[in-house]
Parts: sequence; C-alpha cells; structure tokens
Amino acid sequence: MATNFPPPTLPAGFSRDRQQGDFLKESFPDDFAWGSATSSYQIEGAHDADGKGPSVWDTFSHEPGRVECNHNGDVACDHYNHLEEDVQLIKNLGLKHYRFSISWCRILPTGDPSNVNQKGIDFYNRLLDCLAEAGISAMVTIYHWDMPQALGDKGGWMNAEIVDLFKEFARICFEQFGGKVKQWLTLNEPMVFALLGYGFGMHHPGQRDFFGKGCRVIHHLILAHAKVYHLYEASFKEKQNGRVGIALCSTWNEPRNPNSEEDRQAAERAMRVAMGWFAWPIFKTGDYPEEVKTGVAAVCEKNGIKSTLPEFTKEEMRLNKGTADFLGWNYYTTSLVWSPSEAEKVGPTPFSQVAQITGSVDPEWKRGKCMFFHVVPWGIRNMANWLTKTFPSVDIYITENGYSDEGQLDDSDRVDFFRNHLNELLKAIRLDGARVKGYYAWSLMDNFEWSNGYNVRFGMHHVDFTDPKRRRTKKASADFYKHLVQSNGFKE
Ligand code: NOJ
Repeated sequence: MATNFPPPTLPAGFSRDRQQGDFLKESFPDDFAWGSATSSYQIEGAHDADGKGPSVWDTFSHEPGRVECNHNGDVACDHYNHLEEDVQLIKNLGLKHYRFSISWCRILPTGDPSNVNQKGIDFYNRLLDCLAEAGISAMVTIYHWDMPQALGDKGGWMNAEIVDLFKEFARICFEQFGGKVKQWLTLNEPMVFALLGYGFGMHHPGQRDFFGKGCRVIHHLILAHAKVYHLYEASFKEKQNGRVGIALCSTWNEPRNPNSEEDRQAAERAMRVAMGWFAWPIFKTGDYPEEVKTGVAAVCEKNGIKSTLPEFTKEEMRLNKGTADFLGWNYYTTSLVWSPSEAEKVGPTPFSQVAQITGSVDPEWKRGKCMFFHVVPWGIRNMANWLTKTFPSVDIYITENGYSDEGQLDDSDRVDFFRNHLNELLKAIRLDGARVKGYYAWSLMDNFEWSNGYNVRFGMHHVDFTDPKRRRTKKASADFYKHLVQSNGFKE
C-alpha cells in the first residue's frame, strides 16, 4: 500500500533485532484452529450478477486514479463462479477453518432490509454447504468494507442511521446462515477502514478528515458492533450456539529502547490508541481509553477547536461493554516508537498525533510489495502477549497474517514469512502462555488488494487475472502451509 508518510529515520545505536531464543521445535495445541481467509469484494467478482446491487467499492474502483492501473473488482477471482473449486483448494491445504465475508449488497442490493435478494442468499448457503461437506468450519465476517452504494449515498458510516441498518443486515445473516456458522465477526479492521477511508483518502470514500469525520465513523462502527452482538445474544445464541467477535488490527508498537521507561510508556500509549480505540469500549470499559480522549482533545485544542471525539452516553457505554466472545486480530507488521523530544516532531499520522509518539522502522527489515509491511516475525509474539495481558481470559484468533509479493509461484519469501511468524507465535503460546486459539493465513489466493489492485499479491495460490477462467495455481507456500498444518507445528 503506498503511503505519503515516509517514516522518520531511526537514530543510530538502537538494537533492532528483538527476537528471543532459537527456533522452537514444538507442536501447537491439539485443538489449534488452522485456516485461511478472504473477503467478498476482493475475490467474488460477479459484480452485477443475479440481482446484486453495486457496492461503494464497485463505484470507487471505477473512479479514475483511485486504484493502481485503474483495476477494479468486477471479476476479481471470479470466486462466485468457482465456489466448489475454491473449497477444494482449502480442503487440499488440509484446513478445517475458512474465513470469508458476506457482500451486503448481494443480500440487500440497496441496503433496504425489506428487499432481500434470494439469489445472494442461495450463493452463501451453497458455499456454507460445500464447506460443511468438506469438513471445514466457517468464520464469517459480516462487514469487510463493501457497503451497498445506496447506503453510501446517504452518508454511509457517517450517518447515524447506518447503525440500525447494519443491525438489520446482520439479523438477516443470522436468520439465513446462523444454523451453519459458529463464529461471526461483525467488522473487519474498522480502524483501517476509518483511517484509510476518512483520514488518508486511499480507500472509499477517499476523504482526508480523520478528526472530523473519521472519529464519528468509528463511533458509529462501535455502536453498530455492540447492537449486533446484543441482537445475537438475545435472539439467536440459544438456538445457534455460536460466538460473535470482531477483527481488529494494529501494528505491534515496540519501544525503541526497551530499557527506557519513557519509550515503554510511549509504546503502551500507541497500543492503547491504535488497538484500544475499539478494544477498550468493547472488551474493557464501554468507553474510549483515556489516551484517546486526551489525545484527540489535545490535537483539537492545537487547532483551536473543541474535541471532535463523540461521547458515549452512560447507556451506550453499558451497551458497548463486554460485546465480544473472542478477539480476532490481524497482524502484519511492527514499528519502533518513542516519545519525541522537544526538538523532534510528533509523527504526522492521526495515531502518532493522538498518542504523542513518533515511530520508525529498521531500514534493514525486509519488506514485501506492500510498502507498509515490514517483515518482523517477533512482533507477532510480543503482540500476542500484550493482548493476552491486556484482555485476560479473551480467546484470540489471528484472523489475518500474510506476505505480499508480485505473485511468483516459487514464493520462498512467503514460505519464510509463514515459518518465522508461526514459530514466534508458537513461542508466545508455548513459552509465554498467550491465549491464541487459531490462525487464518491471508490469503487463500491472490486477490484485489484495494488501492493496489492486482499488483500486490498475498495468495498461497496464484490467480491468472488475464485468463477469462481465472486459473488458480498452487504456490510453494501452499505446500509449506499444508505440511505445517499436517504436522501441527514444528516438532519433526
Ligand atoms: C487487511 C484487510 O483486511 C485485507 O482486506 C487486506 O487485503 C489485507 N489486510 C492486506 O492488506
């Protein structure tokens, strides 16, 4: 993903390799869930088939200049027409778990809950049946960024009415698919969605007003999540016996100097802002963490305005608190952070401004095709431990982790990425007691990588986007992952 915020150079003299110990020759717990993940807009294609309405991404990707090479998801991997073949790919990997998302506008073409598209329902039922036949459990994301355009036209997540409309969409998902789904995720990476869509302007709706609009969007996302959780608890839980969680994401923020109390505090602040903005209301207090409240107020004060952070009422806080049965967490990369001195500047991103930190990466860290993502396997261990410590007794699932390249079949860098990240994760579980219960590799196949289009590829299967049949070909990483899953770790 391109960024217009190049990180500041890391001052010399700071030790960067924080990996502890050798490769661990051990197994994962017997009941560890192995899976892979995708999302609707990124793979389905069939953008106007069988009554589907346009999504905001259908529209946005067609606006010139929004996506590299003006790619769009009209056909994508054409998963809509390759459903059986794709389930076979998952089965071939030996996986028992698969995470996918439901396209809101395939079910509700205009977002109107009274206008259900039966063919959309049929598609996901076919997928769920096919998965069940193959012995694969579904983890289903209700919202992975592709809202009906008709709702986008009314302001999307900026409009408070979206909260109840989302709840009605979720109700239909629970009614129609709930008998076949044991794990639901309400939202995927809502912070990334708010930040890239309303802060950096890289995603739909392409705006650059994080403090004005982004903060409000986040507020509505949290309330929508909470309402859906309560809906499931009240009307579906008893019969369907599933669990409802949310997929959050943050880089791991490592103190630049782990021996400096100041740097450690800066890193903790960064985590509470990046992760806590959603996780505090949902898993802890029902409200934003203090770091977010004071941080947003300070940024606004500098601009001579009152804090733009919306406030939850007491009733809403009660509604928000404790609204997830598990935590999905997407890990990609790590930053080194510190408290800037007078002479240094607070970093330019909304997060660094709110958390009053600056951050950098080690120039020696390898990076994938996605500019944002530096390869830091030990970050997954530290983050898993931080999550376990911060949200004790919450089950954690890694709902995404993966590496981007140009799509080569001999993807030895991706193999190294999975091997090293999974070994660090194993250390967190076996040596440190992290409560991580499963891992979903991103991604089953190359797909539409948002503003990078098809230029950035995360798949364990190559997809030929020039071929009308969208031929899939297994990469070396698919064999590696299959072997690792079969051996349940690294014991042999
Ligand atoms: C997170 C998002 O959930 C997913 O849609 C995206 O493709 C990956 N990160 C890689 O950028």
